[in-house]
Amino acid sequence: MQGFSKSIGIQALTVHCRLRNQGNKGEADWSWIKKIKDAGVQIPVILNGNIKDHFDVKNALVEYEADAVMIGQAAITNPWIFEQSKYFLKNGNVPEEPTVKQKTDICLEHLRLACELKGEDLGVREFRKHYSGYLRNLKDISKFRLELMV
Ligand SMILES: Cc1cc2nc3c(=O)[nH]c(=O)nc-3n(C[C@H](O)[C@H](O)[C@H](O)COP(=O)(O)O)c2cc1C
Repeated sequence: MQGFSKSIGIQALTVHCRLRNQGNKGEADWSWIKKIKDAGVQIPVILNGNIKDHFDVKNALVEYEADAVMIGQAAITNPWIFEQSKYFLKNGNVPEEPTVKQKTDICLEHLRLACELKGEDLGVREFRKHYSGYLRNLKDISKFRLELMV
């Protein structure tokens, strides 16, 4: 097993940590990471599945010995997870919540890039799933969210 993955050209391995019948839902079994590393895999092993916040990121890296993490759904529900996690790993706490202006500026920049990449029609339609993550916790946001969805 040792060196096998490298010799056939695989440079890194991401492990989904869920069973096929779970799809992208439910608990992920992170213990697979250590089992794979213990089997002698020498390439980076990346943990994916059910990482929800910066605590999970640290836990995956420190307790489960993942070389890196890959974040799926939480990137949509909490787009700040990357910044928060990096900060948490370095400082042991999380930065202050972004201001309303920072949130809306980044949301609009993301929307602009989505339209540039996919065209305005598809870009705007697909972007609906991102509003709640960016605008979460903003005061009186529910009425604006309705307008954005039209
Ligand atoms: C909107 C969305 C799009 C995805 N697209 C892909 C894809 O194109 N290829 C892929 O291998 N996995 C894709 N996945 C699965 C994710 O990479 C990931 O394995 C899965 O979401 C579990 O991680 P999570 O619990 O952090 O969300 C997608 C997941 C989501 C939510």
